[in-house]
Amino acid sequence: MTGDKLTGEVFYTSEETRNKAHIKDRAVLDLKAKKDYKKFWADIAGDLHWFKKWDEILDDSKKPFYKWFTGGETNISYNCLDRHLNTFRRNKLALIWEGEPGDVRTMSYFRLHQETCRFANVLKSMGVNKGDRVTIYMGRIPEIITAMLACARIGAVHSVVYGGFSVESLTERIEDSRSRVLIVADGSYQRGKVVPLKDIADEALQRAGTVEHVVVVKRTGQPVLMEPGRDMWYHELVSLPIASHNCQLEVMSAEDPLFILYTSGTTGKPKAILHTHGGYMVGTYATTRYYLDLQEEDRFWCSADPGWITGHSYIVYGPLLNGGTTFMYEGAPYHPYPNRWWQMIEKYGINIFYTAPTAIRGFMRFGDAWARRHNLTSLRILGSVGEPINPEAWKWYYNVIGNGKCPVIDTWWQTETGMHMIAPFPTDPLKPGSGGLPFPGIEMDVLDESGKPAGRNTEGYLVIKTPWPSMVRTLFNDPEKFRQQYWERFPGYYFTGDSARIDDDGYIWVIGRVDDVIKVSGYRLGSADIESALVSHPAVAEAAAIGVPHDIKGNVIHAFVILRDGQQGSESLTGELVKHIGHEVGPIAKPEKIEFVDKLPKTRSGKIMRRVLKAQAMGEDPGNISTIED
Ligand code: WTA
Repeated sequence: MTGDKLTGEVFYTSEETRNKAHIKDRAVLDLKAKKDYKKFWADIAGDLHWFKKWDEILDDSKKPFYKWFTGGETNISYNCLDRHLNTFRRNKLALIWEGEPGDVRTMSYFRLHQETCRFANVLKSMGVNKGDRVTIYMGRIPEIITAMLACARIGAVHSVVYGGFSVESLTERIEDSRSRVLIVADGSYQRGKVVPLKDIADEALQRAGTVEHVVVVKRTGQPVLMEPGRDMWYHELVSLPIASHNCQLEVMSAEDPLFILYTSGTTGKPKAILHTHGGYMVGTYATTRYYLDLQEEDRFWCSADPGWITGHSYIVYGPLLNGGTTFMYEGAPYHPYPNRWWQMIEKYGINIFYTAPTAIRGFMRFGDAWARRHNLTSLRILGSVGEPINPEAWKWYYNVIGNGKCPVIDTWWQTETGMHMIAPFPTDPLKPGSGGLPFPGIEMDVLDESGKPAGRNTEGYLVIKTPWPSMVRTLFNDPEKFRQQYWERFPGYYFTGDSARIDDDGYIWVIGRVDDVIKVSGYRLGSADIESALVSHPAVAEAAAIGVPHDIKGNVIHAFVILRDGQQGSESLTGELVKHIGHEVGPIAKPEKIEFVDKLPKTRSGKIMRRVLKAQAMGEDPGNISTIED
């Protein structure tokens, strides 16, 4: 692709980055993938260790329940750790970690492997078997990584619940996954305060009845309740003789489940997205290597939380599969000052930095000086994820943080896709606000209402036309909903739930969600999450929640509430409802505004028309309201 002919504003990568990049010219990969995309993926899979090679690369006989590398046997935890132990990587840092108070821990591959084995033995001694679900609820501390890798080693299916979620969110996820073991921390540090994770878990465990064993990691040291017979300290367990450094791993079929991760969808309860050992491993390995360009000597920082897919794929699995050094920071971005992140990039010599537009816009607000105080020249690649990045934030990131020499890899993907789907390679011409083209081997399109290609420069529904290795396999417990939700709207294609347009150069511009998913500061929430929390309050009869655009957060939540008879709207009730949502769902779900109303716009079949509320909130014309009831 030659840059000269591209339309719109185009940026280029520095000579230095270009010369170093794994992929010098995407056309080579594109050509290979176009010839035979299955072979293309199989060649990548060949970089990793398989105890037994697959019989078939892709089994599409039961669409949309695709299977990859069938007959193959592997283990992702083995590929993240053991595979490196007979090489020079044995002594290489796998993890560098900084706590919010400034404490530091590092682990070599040798050490991380030992820790993982010790904890895997503990889980085994608790009767955790292949296929059992284990819920993990912690802040960003090293043990969250050890816990995930330990589960994977013995074939247990981890279900990580974001440490910013609260009582009802945790309850729902424990119950739905029927976890018998919960791994939790006593607390986590956030902006100098302690989030009492164990207290929240205790309340959730009163509501959810499946958990028999609770393993508690001591992080903050504040007093917590330890229920005899149920709760045990992590540090005591891993010192027991059963917790040896040797732990027989479970050989996994490629299609055996690796994890479930709950995410918000269009309606009702969060959906458990299921990923597998084989395909997910290949997808995250490839994209970390080729899109984020992770190289042997790099220090790689993804600022997400392991409780979300970005953390699963690009703090834990992608970097470790590549034998890379992953950096994780526990705390909040602006604490105690807005230079905390830049200070750590300088201190640790971070080469690849991957964050969300909302954080970038947050830093812009404090001005350039905080970043300019630090030497950020170690940076080679910048990444963005979670929501569309506005060109202004893109350019600030590129110029102020990247000093005009680092490509901004704007990665579009989802919990469901497991890996990046649209992004530029570091050597591609870059357009601020667009991720560019899909990864080689993946075809995508934008369709109109009737399912026909919308054509260039026209907004429509974003779909994926080819299967890919790390695709969601099903919804745990609900395969029928999986089919309906993703494969029914446009038969034969995976529907993303996003709207987008494709420009004259084939670059995809993602616009946003077209369903009831709300992206707040890059976090994925659903209208239903907030609404069900509201109606669980005794004063509330009915509720509707919508996302409204916001300069820094991307979107904020507005809620509309019908009170029960005899209840009166007031400032103090608003405060109480906001607090209630924080307690049930989590602080990220707190609405910015709550409006008390007498009626909600509904269709004749009784469905709330959130788009009418949204238009009203934004002072826009609500469009076609012919189906409205009143
Ligand atoms: C949005 C996060 C524009 C999109 C990895 C998608 C983006 C949803 C981008 C998935 C991006 C993610 N540009 N929009 N680079 N990345 N999105 O499951 O709406 O938390 O459908 O996965 O985030 O959110 P999820």
